[in-house]
Amino acid sequence: MTSSWRLVDNRSAIDESAVGAWSRRGVMAGLLGCGACGAVGMPSAGSSDDVSTPLKRASTLPIGCCMATGDLADAPLLALIKRNFSQITPSYEMKMGVILGPDGKCRFDAGDQLAAFAQANKMRLHGHTLVWYNIQPAYFAALTKDAAAFSRAYRDYITTVVGHYRGMVSGWDVVNEPVAPDGNGLRDSLWSRQLGADDYIATAFEHATSADPGAIAFLNDYGMEANATKRRTFLALVERLLKRGVKIGGIGTQTHISVDLAPGAAASAIADLASLGLPLHVSELDITVGRGRAASDAALATQAQRASEVVDAYMRLPASQRYAITLWGARDRDSWLRKPPYDPASDRPSPFDDNGRPKPMLAAMISSLKSRQ
Ligand code: XIL
Repeated sequence: MTSSWRLVDNRSAIDESAVGAWSRRGVMAGLLGCGACGAVGMPSAGSSDDVSTPLKRASTLPIGCCMATGDLADAPLLALIKRNFSQITPSYEMKMGVILGPDGKCRFDAGDQLAAFAQANKMRLHGHTLVWYNIQPAYFAALTKDAAAFSRAYRDYITTVVGHYRGMVSGWDVVNEPVAPDGNGLRDSLWSRQLGADDYIATAFEHATSADPGAIAFLNDYGMEANATKRRTFLALVERLLKRGVKIGGIGTQTHISVDLAPGAAASAIADLASLGLPLHVSELDITVGRGRAASDAALATQAQRASEVVDAYMRLPASQRYAITLWGARDRDSWLRKPPYDPASDRPSPFDDNGRPKPMLAAMISSLKSRQ
């Protein structure tokens, strides 16, 4: 891979100098400063507002979806992804569980396949994720009695992985899901116990931003729509870290929501999370119709309304704060919510149905994207 495609193709939609300025300015300055920042440079909308317009063509910002290496053998899915999306996030292949071997060595073959797909199709690549409570490898667990060795291994893992993908990714979810599920405080994990509650996050950002200063360093979490306490805890954490000089470059809000979410809650969350002035990534959008419940036409209509609400709220942000909207599964059957322990049979959380046909959710997203450039 040459360095030119990395920088030109995968980063063309983001004004990097503006992003660097944000992360330094942070919340302290209390300024959005967005008038000076470049708008993202994706193709502009066409004239038709029906579902014949590819999602990415309806949009002035990158529209992403998650992808796994298994998807590379699914020709209809690949065609749908190439037509509709301008960014991919590996579902699992850039997580520690895949990359880190029991010997402490890194294996990049799976992630590299997806990076090559992104390169070949001129799509941006979003890195997901360096540190996650959910993956606590035996290699690290074995080092807990030696604090210095643990810290070194933590640094080496982050710098090796970020260094490997340096220039290929537009951003990294540096830490994923740091807040406790109920929103009361931070999550307990191998990392927090070993390195300290705020410190494991601060250290991860320091290592990641020094290994690739050009990648936007995101803090990513979920469940901030219905739970205002969780949102407050998350934002307080971001402010605390910015105050101590940690270069958080963006906020990721996964946006795994439900048709049962109160109208307005998703929009409020987006506005609130953007209030610090950092770029925002709707990083894993899906809208469950309810686990175990058949998806009625009414539920799919509500799903479309919620999708519009998310896109409308996002498009009300200054253009320079819009990093991307990423769907977590292009077709219903590609969704993690269709796998155990969730609902293998019947959930329909995505914009395309099991056969890749457009759903009302897709039409709603296209229409909202086009109406707010
Ligand atoms: C999920 C993937 O979709 C699955 O394929 C994998 O088996 C487990 O992880 N929040 C996240 C994502 O940040 O990494 C999760 O992705 C979904 C929830």
